[in-house]
Amino acid sequence: MAVDPQALLADACWQGVASAIDPAPMQYWPIIDDVAAATRTSGDQRAQARPLSSRTPSPIAQVPAGPPLADVILNRRSAQRFDPRGHCAADKFFAVLAATLPGTGAPWFALAAPPRISLVLFVHRVDGLEPGLYLLARQSEHRLPLAGRYSAEPVAAAPAGLPFYCLTTAGPQELRRLARAIHCHQDIAADACFALGMVAEFSAPIAADPAAYRDLYREAGAIGQVLYLEAEACGMRGTGIGCFFDDPFHEVVGLVGEAFQTLYHFTVGLPKADTRLGSAPAYQDRPTPPVLTG
Ligand SMILES: Cc1cc2nc3c(=O)[nH]c(=O)nc-3n(C[C@H](O)[C@H](O)[C@H](O)COP(=O)(O)O)c2cc1C
Repeated sequence: MAVDPQALLADACWQGVASAIDPAPMQYWPIIDDVAAATRTSGDQRAQARPLSSRTPSPIAQVPAGPPLADVILNRRSAQRFDPRGHCAADKFFAVLAATLPGTGAPWFALAAPPRISLVLFVHRVDGLEPGLYLLARQSEHRLPLAGRYSAEPVAAAPAGLPFYCLTTAGPQELRRLARAIHCHQDIAADACFALGMVAEFSAPIAADPAAYRDLYREAGAIGQVLYLEAEACGMRGTGIGCFFDDPFHEVVGLVGEAFQTLYHFTVGLPKADTRLGSAPAYQDRPTPPVLTG
């Protein structure tokens, strides 16, 4: 016979006072307001953004023609799972990395600050590359400090002009375990073709101007957007990773102190559909976008 809990408690006499579930609510983090106030840019400073003409053009040609840009943007999703057997062709991999180099085009012209972020990659399955830790030095002077405890050897298979270095090769299983653990034990970091950390010049620019803290995150966001779209355009898929353990990552690379800090991570791989989720066509009623040229 089914018991009706409400009927059972109809004559109950409540006593005492319920305790708060969380006396120090986790959603209240005053340090976030403090950081927001401390890193605010004054109107005067904003006017000093660099003129576009002072930007360094990207040394590498951009990705070969793919699907129309509007389709890539409108169909982009974050991958939820990756095929752990998926491989990435070397030309796609290098094209995706080349697109993240600072240049004169979108989205880089929207950033007022100079480029201060380089990428440290966990390469799991890219054709022609041994699994290991690699560095894309988006600023040439990052090569030495970000080599950490390694020697940062140029990678012969990389296109000329791409500042891409091998820090160390690693056993595939060991590398998968390491990547998973560093990214809050998320499988996507192990099953991706590659995962990466965006490592930024940190203490010096912030000491010179606390507003640089926000610029670093703007740059990381722009790199993330480029990775999302480039991955999609070459038939793979990306996922931004905000959950990672920064200090163990710094330790793996051999970074000491706060001169450089990792800010945001990313994974790219061959997506696997989650059959538990339904899917509906996106933007069904959108007007046909104009064809963009140039
Ligand atoms: C800053 C940022 C951090 C994220 N961190 C994670 C993460 O740690 N793990 C994860 O599985 N997805 C992560 N994601 C992906 C989000 O879950 C995903 O963007 C969100 O579900 C919206 O889906 P969509 O990108 O397909 O629109 C992150 C996305 C962003 C932009």
